[in-house]
Amino acid sequence: MRKPYNEKHNTFTEDSLVAKEPIKQFQSWFDVACQTPNILEANAMCLSTASKTGKPSARYVLLKGFDKEGFRFFTNYSSRKGIELEENPFAALTFYWEPLLKSVRIEGAVKKLPAEASDEYFQSRPRSSQIGALVSSQSQAISSRQVLVDDEEKLTKEYADEKIPIPRPDKWGGYVVIPEVIEFWQGQSTRIHDRIRFRRPASSEEPDGVLTHQGDEGWIYERLAP
Ligand SMILES: Cc1cc2nc3c(=O)[nH]c(=O)nc-3n(C[C@H](O)[C@H](O)[C@H](O)COP(=O)(O)O)c2cc1C
Repeated sequence: MRKPYNEKHNTFTEDSLVAKEPIKQFQSWFDVACQTPNILEANAMCLSTASKTGKPSARYVLLKGFDKEGFRFFTNYSSRKGIELEENPFAALTFYWEPLLKSVRIEGAVKKLPAEASDEYFQSRPRSSQIGALVSSQSQAISSRQVLVDDEEKLTKEYADEKIPIPRPDKWGGYVVIPEVIEFWQGQSTRIHDRIRFRRPASSEEPDGVLTHQGDEGWIYERLAP
């Protein structure tokens, strides 16, 4: 498994930040990932949650939008992740874009999106995906695949008339992760990788200009050892 990182990747220095805040920086890396032909789903991210007793669990979900307010994804509110987010509303997101040797880590508090935002996204999805959301009691044990196939067939018939909108089930909707920490990792063939972490400062914290630097929009940033 020990493969060399053959390609040379540019070192990621403080001077190569496109902005002194992490949302524009994320946009810049995400755009490159989206334009890289052998990255099929640049928006796939590992979502880590934890139960109220601190037991972690992780799975992939798709990023469906981001801005200063946070990073949005959609799922089933009654799923394992939904239950964990209900009892412990904090999460971590991890991207890894292998051909670029780039990774981004995001941590923060999580909130449900307003119902209107979930409705809007639900209605923008293909009807087959909408029916899929209705069919699946995500994360519940079921007796066979046939149960899902039968439910899908029944609902496809029920909603055969495309003029009838499919209502969003209450159990399905969006979340936003409100970032408190965003780290950018750039792998290097030398294994002396680059890590620049933006975070919200603690209430009385003043950046010292040596280890910690003042960024824009209330962020501070620092370089971490790899
Ligand atoms: C690339 C990829 C993208 C996925 N995107 C989503 C998604 O956006 N929403 C979702 O609910 N599940 C998505 N899944 C399925 C989840 O990984 C997971 O199986 C499901 O959400 C149930 O997780 P839970 O039981 O931990 O709640 C995706 C899986 C993969 C591999």
